[in-house]
Amino acid sequence: MLIGLPGTGKTTTGRRLAGRLRVPFADSDDLVEQRAGRSVRAIFERDGEAGFRDAEAEVIAAALSAFDGVLALGGGAIVAEQTRAALAVSGAPVVLLRAELSTLAVRVGRAQDRPLLTGDPVGRLAGLAAARQPLYESVATAVIDTDRRSAKRVAADIDATLIALAWRP
Ligand code: S3P
Repeated sequence: MLIGLPGTGKTTTGRRLAGRLRVPFADSDDLVEQRAGRSVRAIFERDGEAGFRDAEAEVIAAALSAFDGVLALGGGAIVAEQTRAALAVSGAPVVLLRAELSTLAVRVGRAQDRPLLTGDPVGRLAGLAAARQPLYESVATAVIDTDRRSAKRVAADIDATLIALAWRP
């Protein structure tokens, strides 16, 4: 599992890592969109953040029991107590990707597709970082720095960390 704020590279790195490990890759935002038949933004607009979080927690619970591969979780997924508990019992390594706010701001750009960042991406990222840091740390098995590192390099770092944890797919 990959967790971290928007812009830490969970999706890009996760795809690469899955390629290295020769396992499938999934992203909880994609799973939510497939199930709902609507975009994340459309779900936020019609059902609010609470509606999105419910759908997100459900697809993650299903993926944790049925999906064998690299799963990237949406940045706010760990806000749900149910998801933090499910991660803890899954036994799978939970890798927290981190980066400086300035790096995240560049990566998310104008954040059109991320409803929680619309308007003031940097200010909103700072608020999310402060509120979520303890939650991320409470579920993370390992923390990987992504500042000034390519997705290829980060995927290699995660792979090495998984080996150190004696975890292989
Ligand atoms: C969110 C992050 C997004 C997406 C949604 C909410 C968040 O995923 O789930 O816009 O609360 O941080 P990414 O972390 O993949 O951008």
